[in-house]
Amino acid sequence: MKFFIDTANLEQIKEAQSLGILDGVTTNPSLMAKEGISGKENILQHYLNICNIVEGPVSAEVISTDYEGMIKEGEELAALHPQIVVKIPIIKDGIKAIKYFSSKSIPTNCTLVFSVGQALLAAKAGATYVSPFIGRLDDISSDGVDLIRKIYEMYDFYGFETQILAASIRHTMHIIQSMEAGADVATCPLSAILGLLKHPLTDSGLETFLKDFNKVNNK
Ligand code: E4P
Repeated sequence: MKFFIDTANLEQIKEAQSLGILDGVTTNPSLMAKEGISGKENILQHYLNICNIVEGPVSAEVISTDYEGMIKEGEELAALHPQIVVKIPIIKDGIKAIKYFSSKSIPTNCTLVFSVGQALLAAKAGATYVSPFIGRLDDISSDGVDLIRKIYEMYDFYGFETQILAASIRHTMHIIQSMEAGADVATCPLSAILGLLKHPLTDSGLETFLKDFNKVNNK
């Protein structure tokens, strides 16, 4: 299973990269705004900065909602750096745009997916990744992880190659549950990735090991 970090914050991306377990990055317009990145030149430069930190795919989302606009924006983003994945919302023109980019072998991430039907269309259009938003489903008392499981079963049954990218992950258990449900990738906040390290028995075990070592070595 691959780990992407879901942020546009360069310090957090660097910290995750330094662990040696980071496979890529996802961003969205809200995450870019949170970092105060505005204006076309600054936005493009920020994507380049991210690509220079990590080695894997970096999702950059289009703002246009019409086909022509998405193609223009997506081509510009894809030309920026070979690691860029064009992130496109699951709307009618979005599906057409994904099909276009797929025919040009430009990788895409189909975003804002909340149903199996949407995931089916994304796969049929040739999306590289499909992003079911599990946290936002949980927020409205729906089962986000169950959606991952259903998409996995459907893709597996029909042999679709689109990778399931579990998104809108809120905490560590979401990562574990997404893995169990068959996700290929989890895009997570840094806190959720670091949360995987935590176990009280690790902490108490390490404390005892160090105490015992010191008893005989530092008398
Ligand atoms: C996915 O690519 C999105 O950037 C992200 O996971 C959305 O998460 P949120 O629901 O926490 O905004």
